[in-house]
Amino acid sequence: MVTRRNFLHQTALGSVAAAMGGTALTACTEAATESPEAIEAPVRPLAISTWDFGAKANEAAWKILNSGGNALDAVEQGVMVIEADEKNTSVGIGGAPDRDGRVTLDACIMAPDGSCGSVCALEHIVHPISVARRVMEKTPHVILVGEGALEFALAQGFKKENLLTEESKAAWEKWKKTSKYEPKINVEMHDTIGMLTIDNKGDIAGACTTSGLAYKMRGRVGDSPIIGAGLYVDNEVGGAAATGLGEAVIRAVGSFLVVELMRQGRSPQEACEEAVARVIKKYKDFKDIQVGFIAVNKLGQIGAYSIQEGFNYAVFAGGNNQVKDAMSFIK
Ligand code: GLY
Repeated sequence: MVTRRNFLHQTALGSVAAAMGGTALTACTEAATESPEAIEAPVRPLAISTWDFGAKANEAAWKILNSGGNALDAVEQGVMVIEADEKNTSVGIGGAPDRDGRVTLDACIMAPDGSCGSVCALEHIVHPISVARRVMEKTPHVILVGEGALEFALAQGFKKENLLTEESKAAWEKWKKTSKYEPKINVEMHDTIGMLTIDNKGDIAGACTTSGLAYKMRGRVGDSPIIGAGLYVDNEVGGAAATGLGEAVIRAVGSFLVVELMRQGRSPQEACEEAVARVIKKYKDFKDIQVGFIAVNKLGQIGAYSIQEGFNYAVFAGGNNQVKDAMSFIK
């Protein structure tokens, strides 16, 4: 019998099968109609990232995963590609500055053993994700912010750099003429790279990194460096990451919610849909904003869902890297 749960189970595996472009999972998806137990062969390794630019991050992560590397190294190296991309105006160098012209970056990382690290409003460092990893590995703390985070980064040997490119400076100067603050749906004014990886051993890690809302107030921090909001991983269950308006994600503690729903038996897709429903319930102007989630469970089943159309994500599994459109609440 194909129950709703089994059907969703199949659907999720079906999309991974499509991402794998072929035969590797055909037997798995067919088996799903016969017996749910038969499909428990996990898909690994795997990398999933928010937005189409996540495909480049997936490529870097896949190189590590496919040569037997671990999920944590893969997720860090993956998002670093986007942090270093000057053309990406929502992550790392080239990210849009705050309203005073300062590029302030937020990032967090989670390891399979549950340890985590985060930096908020970090200036002058191209790779906040690597500073977050050092916070996790070299300090007794989880979060460092602002000047303290910068001092720590410099003490760890990171180089101080100018993150405001000519292009983002010009865009900020244009914005200053009106100083109109209007975050736009799916325009790279409030996007983030969130990434989840599963290695050959089945361990799961996650990373999330952003320059946050363009022209935000000085000191504003979004969901991306907040463990449980922008990112959550539980190696027994799965992981989730969020993108979109951080203020709305934080209210619902979105990524933790997705993982807890999966723990209770929801598929990654069902969990993402329920989390979006929760965000909507808590944010009356939800029609004006975008929030999206990606999720993966221990079997390598994936889910993605957003408030508005236009959210996409990249999945690398079985040697194929594919960008997919997420389903959305508002069609
Ligand atoms: N999701 C990124 C931010 O709101 O800062």
